[in-house]
This record gives sequence, C-alpha cells and structure tokens, in this order.
Amino acid sequence: MDNNHNNNTFMIIAIIGSTGSIGKGFVLQFANTVENTIYVCGRDKDRTAAATEEYKKIVNHPEMLIPVTIQHGIENSDIVILAIPADGLEDIYKLQEFFKLGQIIISPVVDFKNPSIISVAEKIQTRLSFTKVVSAFQNVPAHIMETSEKRPTILVSSDFDDAKKIIIDLINHDTKFYALDAGALKNSRVIEQLTPLLVKIAKLNGLKDLSIKVE
Ligand SMILES: NC(=O)c1ccc[n+]([C@@H]2O[C@H](COP(=O)([O-])OP(=O)(O)OC[C@H]3O[C@@H](n4cnc5c(N)ncnc54)[C@H](OP(=O)(O)O)[C@@H]3O)[C@@H](O)[C@H]2O)c1
Repeated sequence: MDNNHNNNTFMIIAIIGSTGSIGKGFVLQFANTVENTIYVCGRDKDRTAAATEEYKKIVNHPEMLIPVTIQHGIENSDIVILAIPADGLEDIYKLQEFFKLGQIIISPVVDFKNPSIISVAEKIQTRLSFTKVVSAFQNVPAHIMETSEKRPTILVSSDFDDAKKIIIDLINHDTKFYALDAGALKNSRVIEQLTPLLVKIAKLNGLKDLSIKVE
C-alpha cells in the first residue's frame, strides 16, 4: 500500500457491518471521492446489495461502491473498518487467514455489554497481531456520521505511527471530521469509555447525538 494518500493515492476500504447504523455513516463519509473504492461488506448478500443500492442514491460517486462478501473485502482491501458489535468480533477472527501482514484495521467498536480495562482495539490488535489496528470514531454517533451537521474531533490512536498517519490524513482529507493524534493504542481505553459517558450525559440533559470537539 502506498502511504501518500494525499498525493492521489487510491485506497480500497472494506466496511464490515456496512448495513448497520455507523457502517452506513462510514460509507457516506468515504464514498465522496474517486480516490476511495468502497467495499460494502455484509453477511447477507441480498441485504448488502439492497444497502449498496440505497447508498448509491446518496453519495457523489456511486460507481465507487461495490457490494462484496466480508471475506472478499478483507482479502482485497488496504483498510478494513470493523463497524460491528463487539460480540461479532469472534466471527472476524475466524477469517484471520484472509488479512494481510500490515493491513490497517480501523476499530470504532465500543463494548457496552462487557466493558473491561483493556480496550476493544487492544484486544483486536492482540488477536490479529500481524495487522495494524487504528482506534477511531468511537465518540461519533451514527446520525452525525450520516449528516453534515457538526465537525467533531476524531481521536486516533495506534501503536503504528505509519498506519495512524494514513488514517488521520484520510479523515482530514476525505471527511468533514477533524482527526487528532491521540497517541498509543492503550489510550483507546479512555476514548472507548467516553462513549457511554456521552450517552449518559445526553440522557441526563435531555440531549441526543453528543460528540466531542477538542480545540
Ligand atoms: N451507532 C453508533 O452511534 C456508534 C457510534 C460509535 C461506535 N459505534 C460502534 O460501531 C459498532 C456498530 O454499531 P452500530 O450501531 O452500527 O450497530 P448496528 O446498527 O447493529 O449494525 C451492526 C452491523 O454489524 C453487522 N454484524 C453484526 N454481527 C456481525 C458478525 N458477527 N459478523 C459480521 N458482521 C456483523 C451487521 O450486519 P448484517 O447485515 O450482516 O447483520 C450490521 O451491519 C459497535 O461496535 C458500536 O459500539 C456505534
């Protein structure tokens, strides 16, 4: 993979869970440039095809969206986004032979059901140790991902500086969001825990779709 995204490098991005709430947001954010080919990945062929048709009506470059199986998306992409619930990750680990050495994985996953001190992103890095896990997007509600109402900060952490830079550049170049380097992957522990706190703050104050802005 060429690392110079902003020098017209073409990226192939596989979005697993693309039929879901935040998966749709990822598609809409990243499919507005001809520089990104988006693999719309799902478990069910018909559901994935229907979602792709829906998204094609909304994005600027519908020709860049391709519905594929999860395995195909993993095998043929530069970046894999795991937009799935934490309890679905075991299914992804079963496909580990299809990931490539050094492939970038973006984890926006928050484990609401079984929170632990170790972050989900670190657990993914341990299980898929030959890939480069980048933690990002946990603090953006799906509705904000889909619309252009706000410009929240995306805190990006990883143990791989090259992968982190690629994702920060990708976010700042191709989306409306503002990405900041949040250091090593272990910082995802704090970042993931901000999400249930934001949900609680929203509930306490009669608000919804809270995100964060660091400036
Ligand atoms: N929603 C938010 O506002 C938000 C914000 C930040 C982070 N997140 C995180 O993003 C992740 C997804 O949340 P969501 O709200 O978008 O969930 P969702 O609407 O329920 O969508 C989940 C998606 O994951 C897929 N999926 C479920 N189990 C799977 C498995 N075992 N293997 C492969 N794919 C599977 C589903 O695809 P099928 O079509 O195949 O069923 C569906 O597309 C979660 O980890 C959540 O913590 C969500």
